[in-house]
Amino acid sequence: EPLHPIPHPPRWPVVGNLLQIPKSRMAQYFLEVSRNYDGIFELDFGGFTTPFVSSAALAEELSDETRFRKVVRPPLSLLRDIVGDGLFTAKSDEPNWGKAHRILMPAFSQRAMKGYFDAMLEVASQLCTRWESHPGEDILVADDMTRLTLDTISLAGFGYRFHSFESRQLHPFLGAMVRVLAANMAKLTQLPMFNRLRRDPADYYADIDTMNALVDEVIRARRENPTGDNDLLNLMLTAEDPDTGETLDDLNIRHQVLTFLVAGHETTSGLLTFTLYFLLRNPHVLAQAYAEVDRLLPGDTVPEYRDLAQLDVIERVLKESLRLWPTAPAFMVAPYEDTIIGGRYRIRRNQGVSVHLPALHRDPAVWSDPEVFDIDRFLPENEAKIHPHGYKPFGNGQRACIGRQFALTEAKLALALILQRFALSDPHDYQLEIKETLTLKPDNFRIRARRRQPHD
Ligand code: HEM
Repeated sequence: EPLHPIPHPPRWPVVGNLLQIPKSRMAQYFLEVSRNYDGIFELDFGGFTTPFVSSAALAEELSDETRFRKVVRPPLSLLRDIVGDGLFTAKSDEPNWGKAHRILMPAFSQRAMKGYFDAMLEVASQLCTRWESHPGEDILVADDMTRLTLDTISLAGFGYRFHSFESRQLHPFLGAMVRVLAANMAKLTQLPMFNRLRRDPADYYADIDTMNALVDEVIRARRENPTGDNDLLNLMLTAEDPDTGETLDDLNIRHQVLTFLVAGHETTSGLLTFTLYFLLRNPHVLAQAYAEVDRLLPGDTVPEYRDLAQLDVIERVLKESLRLWPTAPAFMVAPYEDTIIGGRYRIRRNQGVSVHLPALHRDPAVWSDPEVFDIDRFLPENEAKIHPHGYKPFGNGQRACIGRQFALTEAKLALALILQRFALSDPHDYQLEIKETLTLKPDNFRIRARRRQPHD
């Protein structure tokens, strides 16, 4: 087959497609553009072009780790100011990636999840207590899910308590984080030359200082009160890499703590917020979820770790929610050598290619009625037939999400407790509006919750 240029929407000299790309809804725009193309298109961000892939067939090629590997390019590379060579933003060939990966993997095994259960339960119970003590009030779902996931990763991973549910305001760490992410995303839609000339404003650095101060506080608290647990923080502070015998250096420990605080909560709070949105939109699915919880955890039965494996409806709700709105919407890879994908598109060595997950997860060749929220797609007999590269909410290969089990365990438990305790309503007839930072979440979604009565 002859080579074809990668198709693209009309573009202008110098600015390329920059003028068309809406700053605050880039991922949603890429999804819209993908609908006009057959699995691949290219956008020009004022001099650097990026192909976007949205078909399972092409995602399969990009997932071949002998040909492609993760690359850290904008927007991810912009975060290296903050999280440096932490696991998420480390380049694939940086020795610190392999070292931290080997040291930290044991903290994410299935067995380790059992060890985090009490912390997860403690924080999820705090959420329920807060909802119970403010009956009839509007709940800003994304904010409370952020309190839940931030407190959970910090307590389970670092033994550190944020006490977010005791406070009306979100922790200053979060304000700083959101502003830093937003400032970096904004740079994507500006001319690269302009970005090079412009200095970040002083409050950008003040925000980074706020974030670093918290990390130092977390580490200081542990050094003052050492524990014997093999939690994430102790592994970072003391464990030796089985290959090199080295421990993580101090700067890298900072980068990892910050990485886990950020990567460990944003995406999961988005997932929980979307999931509640989908449940309220789909009353028959909500009824199924209630029935499951009432059967497995009747009354106020306190869940145990082993109950989570039984929560099959809730698990499918989470998976389907991550299909339609994967909260980390893209990842980027580049080939080791010049190569050709789809038999016709040339990709040069080191050219970054983005796998756009909301579009991939709607690939009509893989998903029937892709816009329909249908948890039966993930019944075992159906799930086994899904294209192995048609669903990648946690990324690919060795750079895939290390916190996947953690996120699913935490989210299942929180949903189970919420459904066990509360009748939920959507008094404002919410229309989905997605807020994009690096991640996606429903913006300004408000619900009400009241304690369930025996007849509910
Ligand atoms: C990597 C998604 C929760 C920690 C990734 C990647 C994706 C992802 C797509 C790959 C990124 C890339 O290739 O550039 C998600 C989603 C989550 C979630 C959708 C929740 C629903 C978590 C949690 C943690 C975590 C709870 C920590 C406790 C990480 C880390 C990496 C990563 C450290 C980098 C792994 C490496 O390259 O070695 N995640 N994640 N994530 N995630 Fe998650």
